Parts: sequence; C-alpha cells; structure tokens
Amino acid sequence: MSNDNDKQAMNAVSPSAQSAVNENAEVAVSKKRIRIFDTTLRDGEQAPGASLRPEQKIVIARQLARLGVDTIEPGFAVSSPGEFEAIRQISRELQQTEICGFARCVRGDIDAAVAATEDAALRRLHLFISSSQIHLDFQLRKTQDEVVKQVREMIAYGKQFVEALEFSPMDASRADREFLYRIIEAAIDEGATIINIPDTMGYAMPEEFGPLFSAVKQHVRGGDKVAYSAHCHNDLGLALANSLAAIRHGATHVEVSVNGVGERAGNCALEELVMAIETRGESLGAETGIRSSEIFETSRMVSRAMHFPISFNKPIVGRNAFQHESGIHQDGLLKNRNTYEIMDPEAMGIPRSMIILGKHSGRHAIKHRAAEYGISLADQELEDVYARFKVKADETKIVTDDVLLQLVGESTQTQIEPYALVDLQVLAGTNRMRIASVTIRRTEDGSERTYTGAGQGPLESVIGCIREAMPAGAAFEDLELHSLSSGEDAAGEAVVTVQHAGRRFRGTAIHRDIILAAARAYVAACNSAIMAAGSEERMESGA
Ligand code: KIV
Ligand code: ZN
Repeated sequence: MSNDNDKQAMNAVSPSAQSAVNENAEVAVSKKRIRIFDTTLRDGEQAPGASLRPEQKIVIARQLARLGVDTIEPGFAVSSPGEFEAIRQISRELQQTEICGFARCVRGDIDAAVAATEDAALRRLHLFISSSQIHLDFQLRKTQDEVVKQVREMIAYGKQFVEALEFSPMDASRADREFLYRIIEAAIDEGATIINIPDTMGYAMPEEFGPLFSAVKQHVRGGDKVAYSAHCHNDLGLALANSLAAIRHGATHVEVSVNGVGERAGNCALEELVMAIETRGESLGAETGIRSSEIFETSRMVSRAMHFPISFNKPIVGRNAFQHESGIHQDGLLKNRNTYEIMDPEAMGIPRSMIILGKHSGRHAIKHRAAEYGISLADQELEDVYARFKVKADETKIVTDDVLLQLVGESTQTQIEPYALVDLQVLAGTNRMRIASVTIRRTEDGSERTYTGAGQGPLESVIGCIREAMPAGAAFEDLELHSLSSGEDAAGEAVVTVQHAGRRFRGTAIHRDIILAAARAYVAACNSAIMAAGSEERMESGA
C-alpha cells in the first residue's frame, strides 16, 4: 500500500472524493486478506457476568461460522468438563472453520486443548505465557531464563500434535523489548507458526503498537517466516485503532469478539474492525471474508445469550448507530442516504425503518414514516400532524410509532391502527401465578374481546394474552426494556420485535408503567406487521 493511497483516502470525506477513491481502487494492487479470529467464546466469555452454557456456545459458534469468521476460539478446554465437551462438539460440527484450542504453556492445558479439538478438520493450538517484567515478578514468579525454557519445552510439546501453532507473549506491549524478541525467537525456533502480539492491558498507542510488529519481524530470527496476529483490549478505547495499526504493519490475523465483549473494557469489536476494513479498504489495502449481512443477527444473539446489553451509541450495532434525529440530517438522508451515512445498515442485516422521531424531526421524516405504514398524507393533513407532533415531541422527547399513528388518526379523524389496546389489568404478587386480562379492539368493525392468562411474571402473562388476541401471523421475538430516567417517577421504554413473513417489525412505547409500555409496544409491532402486509397487498393489486 502506498503512502499516496493513504493520503488520498484520509482526504476522502465527501461522496465525490470517496468515489474518486473507489475508482482508484480498480487500478490499485490487490488487497491483503485479513483473517478474522473470533474469541467471543473464550476472551469474550471472560467478561464479568457473561458466562455461557455449553449449548449456548454451540449455537453461537454455528452463527459465527455463518458469519464467515476464519477461526473460532471456543473456550478454555481445561477449565471444566462442560467447556471441554462444548469445544469438542464445535470441533466435530464446524468442519469448514478453523478451531483453536487455548492453553497456558502447561502440559495439562495443552493435553486438554489438543484432545478437545481432535476432530476439527482445520485446527490451531494457541499457547500463551506472560512476558512483561511485572507479570514475571508478581504473577509467574519466574526469571526470564525460566520463562524462555518453559516456552521452548511447551511449544515443542504442542508441536507434536498440531502444525498451526500460535504463540502469545501476554502483556507484550508492556514487556521489555529485548526479552520480547528473545521469547518470540524461542517460540519460532520450536515451531510456532503464528505470533500473536497482545496488548493485554489496552495500554498501547497506535503509533507504538503498529511499529512493534515491524520491529519484531525485523529483529527476531525467523521473524519473516511466520504470520502475525493482533489481540487488542479496549481499556483506553484504542482497540480498533491499535488493530488497524497492526494491519498496516504486517498483521494478517486479528483477534476480535462480537460486540467487543471481553475482559474489563473488552476486546476489539468484530463488527467495528470488519466494517472499518470494508468501508476504508482502499486506505488499508485490506479485506476480510466476513458476510456482513450476518453482523446484526450475530450481535443480537451474543448480546442476548450473555445478557449483555449493547449501548445505544455503540458503533455499527448500537440502536442509535443509524438513527438520525435532526431534521437537517433526516431531510438529507431521505434525499440521498450518502449525505449522512457512510455504511448501509441493511447490508449488515439492520432494519432500516428506525429514523427516531423527536423534536428535531421535520415534515419530510413524518411523511416518510407514515408512508411506511401505507398512509399517504395530503399537504394539509401533514401540516396538522406536524403541529400536533411538535407539541408531543416537546413533552416526550421521542415520538414513538404508536403515538405518531394516534396523531395521524386525530388529524385525519380516522382510527389508523388495525388493533388497539383498550384495557389492561395485571395481578402481581409474591407467591401466586401472575394473572392478566387484556381487552383489544379491532378497528375495522369495532368489536372488542377480552383475553385472560397466567404466567410466572406479569409481563409473561400480558404477552400471552396479546399473543392470543392478535392475528397469528406475527411471532413475538424479543422485548427490550430501558429505563429512561432514574427516581420514583422513572419512565420505561419498551421495544418489542415481532417476525412476520420473514421480516422483523419493531414497536416502541414509553410509559411510567413498564408493563403497559411493553403491552403497547407489542400491539404497535403487530400493527406495523399487519399494516405493512396490507400496503404490500394494495401495491400488488395496483390499488
Ligand atoms: O489479552 C491477552 O493477552 C490474551 C492472551 C492470552 C492472548 O487474551
Ligand atoms: Zn485478551
């Protein structure tokens, strides 16, 4: 990759400059293939509170394979029989993906990692040991000579079983440089084929971490014969920048985790690295083999299984990552999405529909959102809805879809939603089943029906009632609850996702009664699905 290319890409802030870069790409040299090493199930699982059951690991590993990661590190085989079995099953099942066994430079760990991955069609063994002086003195309590000896013996031992052998000098970015060269040289001498340089404490700066790779390659005997890998933690928020710096300095493998989960502040996030490479591939001269369309699904699956919520403003997968509230942005976006988006969320499997409507939104955005529900607003109607909308937005900050539909209904003097929640009662308590009663009105004929049900919790019983009341097509998928403020008067926001005819629909509602918010959000999601199906039918019949 030339410096000229770099400079050009750095200047590429406007779409026209971007397309110039893209044109240059056609004559550019071929891109370096970056291998994505996923450690969600090993380092990711080390995040406090994120532990997974073996069967959850298997489901996530299947999804990682669908996503197209090159290597999966499914866990630490020696840590428990359940972990060992999960790694064994993943190794048996995923024959197209490289499976990596993880072990300290200790015989028992290596035996377990080798046995657990025995049936993998493609496999790697990953051995690590501390390399910084502070770790040697206080953790290992060993001299440098002792550590080098241990590395030599254990790499030679592991090499009997596998060809692809990765060695990680833990805390490399804080290690004495001469010792780091020495320990890596010993590992290569005994047969290591991949040198992984971890920034274990997330301490390095990109301008230090990148050149570390070039320096190791240059100073270590055999350093030009092995592949290089980066493993960055995010304590200073630099994991992505450091991983990209490593790529610029020769790393061809990068260790990442979905949603950036991992020890403390986590690891470099898979989705951030992949999309940085995809979006700025010309600047980096790099590409990956990831199917970006699976990113969102994978992120949700990991977040749910680990009970690890994703922050709203998290790049790529956070719910605000492609939300545009300001009227100027929404207007530009609706005219040409490149005005305010550098990536296409739909290409990552992220539903497009969610422009947040709030006090900064303009008429254009309201008209567009109504049209998504198959409602076409005439100019005068739009003015009226807009005036009501502004009053509402001042009150509530966010105007959820169910509220917007109510406002449209008031302006046009029609009932827009196919179904409306008329009444809700729930009995909660300590020892008994929670009992709910929900009354739903069908707008078309005004008929009302009341459904009752019981569940382990009030939400479960309410959801059960609504599920019965709504037409069978929309399957309940997910409920997220967020507190929008603290204190006794805190309002809760509920977001419900349903599936209908292979598509996802979301409904949101806000209320101080969180059960009521969840119920309204569920009804709103079902209404979206029903209305979308209706407007598609109308479009097909030309009506
Ligand atoms: O952060 C770290 O150093 C690690 C290694 C063991 C690769 O997770
Ligand atoms: Zn780590």
